[in-house]
Amino acid sequence: MAGYAFSPTAEKRFQELEKKFPRRSSLVLWALHLAQEDLGYITPEAVDYVAERVGVSPAWVKGVVSFYAMFREKPYGKYHLNLCTNLICQLMGADKVEEAICKKLGIGDGETTPDGLFTFTRQVECLAACGYGPAMLVNEEFHELLTPEKVEQLIDALKNQ
Ligand code: FES
Repeated sequence: MAGYAFSPTAEKRFQELEKKFPRRSSLVLWALHLAQEDLGYITPEAVDYVAERVGVSPAWVKGVVSFYAMFREKPYGKYHLNLCTNLICQLMGADKVEEAICKKLGIGDGETTPDGLFTFTRQVECLAACGYGPAMLVNEEFHELLTPEKVEQLIDALKNQ
């Protein structure tokens, strides 16, 4: 298929997974993770490719991509700041943290800074760190008990990495 095919590493991993999951539709999430690792986000070509490899319709795959917040449909910055906006974090000040992030970076929800360094989203519902809110993921790394000051320092530290 033109446009996208698994990298050799992803292909090897997919073939290993195929042996573990005889029910092919169970491979959709895995295949999408592999495609996202390859591309950085899920392109329409990747949706078609995964559908073909797994043996389900592109509409099914597209539905999975749009349902799960961990799949991206456009390129993100080097650092993805994903703030929990569920009730407990809101009660502990997530709105002030969000304000500080948006002001510091000059972007809003779902946007990426012009230098491609940061993408901010508030799409995550709960990070299972409710006792330590406000909580946020920066890529795969947890940050808890955030305040506007702490998040500004965190952004400065990431800029200087
Ligand atoms: S409500 Fe934010 S981590 Fe659970």
